[in-house]
Amino acid sequence: MANNEQTFIMIKPDGVARGLVGEVIKRFEQKGYYLRALKMMNVPKELAEEHYVDLSSKPFYKGLVNYIVSGPVVATVWEGKGVVVTGRKLVGATNPLASEPGSIRGDFCIDVGRNVIHGSDAVESAKREIGLWFPEGLADNKPELKWVYE
Ligand code: TYD
Repeated sequence: MANNEQTFIMIKPDGVARGLVGEVIKRFEQKGYYLRALKMMNVPKELAEEHYVDLSSKPFYKGLVNYIVSGPVVATVWEGKGVVVTGRKLVGATNPLASEPGSIRGDFCIDVGRNVIHGSDAVESAKREIGLWFPEGLADNKPELKWVYE
């Protein structure tokens, strides 16, 4: 399994407004994942629509897009072994009332339409989302990982 698998994690407007950016970063960092890219930004409507294009036929799509553009988000890329699947566990189930306590959604939110954080659901969607949110590409770097991986 590759140590350089990547996932896209976004702290949504409610997470930023509620001061949960550090908490999210802390949880991914303490697991051992590597913060590969980070930026705070207001989200153009077209980007929010494209990000959630697979959900465009759903009744909640319009509200979802309005929520994502309602305030700044923090877009991040995390790197490490199994980061997509394990990142989803750190994030928790979509509906926060069903998310396990100990997960971010399980610990910090209630309504599905204010669920604080996004995490890619597969390696392929992570690639698509990283390309969408970081069209400028990621800075070069070679993290020192010998204290995380044997
Ligand atoms: P989805 O991709 O199904 O979940 P996840 O974010 O866990 O990958 O849905 C995307 C977002 O859409 C979800 O985080 C919150 C919103 N959403 C609703 O507002 N209502 C709903 O009924 C569902 C399923 C999702």
